[in-house]
Amino acid sequence: MAARVAAPFARITKVEELENFARVIAGAFSNDALNRFIFLGRESRPDHPKLDDSEGRVQYWLPIVKSRFETGAILIQSSDWAAVALWLPPGIEKPKPAANAPEGSVEYRKKVDELRKKHLGDKPHWNLNLIGRAPDRLDRGAVRGLIEPYLQKAREDNLPAWLEATNSHARDVYTHFGFKVVDDFRIGKGIVNGQGWIEHNGEGVLIYAMIAGL
Ligand SMILES: CC(C)(COP(=O)(O)OP(=O)(O)OC[C@H]1O[C@@H](n2cnc3c(N)ncnc32)[C@H](O)[C@@H]1OP(=O)(O)O)[C@@H](O)C(=O)NCCC(=O)NCCS
Repeated sequence: MAARVAAPFARITKVEELENFARVIAGAFSNDALNRFIFLGRESRPDHPKLDDSEGRVQYWLPIVKSRFETGAILIQSSDWAAVALWLPPGIEKPKPAANAPEGSVEYRKKVDELRKKHLGDKPHWNLNLIGRAPDRLDRGAVRGLIEPYLQKAREDNLPAWLEATNSHARDVYTHFGFKVVDDFRIGKGIVNGQGWIEHNGEGVLIYAMIAGL
């Protein structure tokens, strides 16, 4: 079903474009604490060689993005790939983690599913699952163009929108667009610190659960 939403964004419909999408996400998330823990697990240290392998990170993200694309997620880009986002429309869930998935992603999925159930029950909702700006692109409006049209669509249908913010800057940007923090939780407690680096008895990475339009 085509979403009745306004420009300025372009929907990604071709499999060949997924690598571009993964490239923007890999760049945007290169310093993200949660993804550092998920990506490097108990080897999450600042001198880990994988951190310098930017192409390797693109190839890490590509199958993740592709599986969500194939599940029915809406992938969009704005301002000629300045920023990208992945929305899960009502009724579409991202695939469950594989049996050999990293412990961080298994813990994350379990906590998020519990909190979505707690705050939304079985209510259909839009889910802003991924968003990132290419670090070298400052185009104004690129991020708004990926969020606002879908929030408008959700409002028109009287549906809430859900997301998790993995850092305080993202939380503040989402607040600017009308999301409210409804809960928070930590991932990797006892294993990593707040930055996602391995640390015995570390506090874990703080994540905010947010909802708009409830
Ligand atoms: C999250 C992310 C996409 C936000 O993009 P950004 O480039 O920082 O945001 P922008 O500067 O385009 O700002 C977007 C809007 O939020 C507003 N904003 C920016 N910082 C803000 C703040 N600290 N408080 C309130 N509003 C803020 C801007 O004014 C702008 O609003 P406008 O469209 O009305 O002018 C980007 O920081 C990113 O890619 N981060 C790394 C990956 C990441 O954290 N992804 C999200 C994980 S949950």
